[in-house]
Amino acid sequence: MDMVAKVHVSTLDCHRLLPTGNVFRPLIGRRRVVVQPCRSFKSEDVGPAEYVKVNKFVGAIRSAVWSCSKPSLRTENKLREAMEMLEERLFSLALYVGRYIITMMSTGVVMFVGFQLSGGDSQMNELIWYSWLGGIIIGTMIGSNLVLDEVARAGPRNVLITGSTRGLGKALAREFLLSGDRVTVTSRSHVSVGLTIEELEENLKQALNAATGSARKKLAHAKVVGIACDVSDPVDVKKLGKFAADELGYIDIWVNNAGTNKGFRPLLEFTNNDIQEVCMLLTIFIYLC
Ligand SMILES: NC(=O)c1ccc[n+]([C@@H]2O[C@H](COP(=O)([O-])OP(=O)(O)OC[C@H]3O[C@@H](n4cnc5c(N)ncnc54)[C@H](OP(=O)(O)O)[C@@H]3O)[C@@H](O)[C@H]2O)c1
Repeated sequence: MDMVAKVHVSTLDCHRLLPTGNVFRPLIGRRRVVVQPCRSFKSEDVGPAEYVKVNKFVGAIRSAVWSCSKPSLRTENKLREAMEMLEERLFSLALYVGRYIITMMSTGVVMFVGFQLSGGDSQMNELIWYSWLGGIIIGTMIGSNLVLDEVARAGPRNVLITGSTRGLGKALAREFLLSGDRVTVTSRSHVSVGLTIEELEENLKQALNAATGSARKKLAHAKVVGIACDVSDPVDVKKLGKFAADELGYIDIWVNNAGTNKGFRPLLEFTNNDIQEVCMLLTIFIYLC
């Protein structure tokens, strides 16, 4: 079974990052997850056109204009839809160009100011121009990276998250799913796994209903499956891996999230068994996964 990334959720002091409400959205502004996306995955059941985004905007604008000019589409609704699509494309194009220019220019400005502050005078002029050039080159690289990150995002990743029927694990599963990925959820309880799948499928349905255009296309391949597994049981873990591979083809990202803290209370109140269970789950058993 191929796997590109494995992530362990450790007992870092991440609860301090929790917002005051009940919803845990771990640094995932605009559905971005701290886990780096796997860029090598290509789905077998999706055509190459999904991924080849070269000239995406030009193509989209052309097709929107072409749609407008078709006589069959000259009804009010269709025309409005086409205009909305054109507007959406032009807006994202402007956004990319804007980002690119801002990154490029700000890098140049930072370098320019840096040289001025470090005693730039007439003899430094040449150096300043070189610094501008350097800024532009670096800015171009960073800007292109940002653009590529958005435009050429590799399509649905297969993600397995242990302990994903509540808490952080479930939040991660939801974020991956609503980013268009295919997710395997699991925990020791069959019932919780079933309920979690139902809940996440409902979330996906709602997101699909609300989405339009490219956002809808992105969600089209999202899917959630699950099976019960106790991560302290090697046989169960093997079953889990096989299940995910059978269901999704293979796994890109495996998140070792299952864990327990036995409740937030003073350490002295913990029994030996509590301590053993917490430590075994968070250290020893992740090696089984
Ligand atoms: N919440 C925090 O403030 C915090 C802080 C630091 C680190 N963490 C770490 O982040 C992870 C998630 O924390 P959380 O607060 O979201 O935990 P949680 O709400 O208690 O959820 C734990 C999940 O793991 C599952 N699980 C527990 N033992 C398992 C086992 N032996 N095999 C398989 N699944 C098991 C649970 O389901 P079942 O009980 O149904 O099996 C549940 O789905 C843990 O590793 C925790 O140590 C959390």
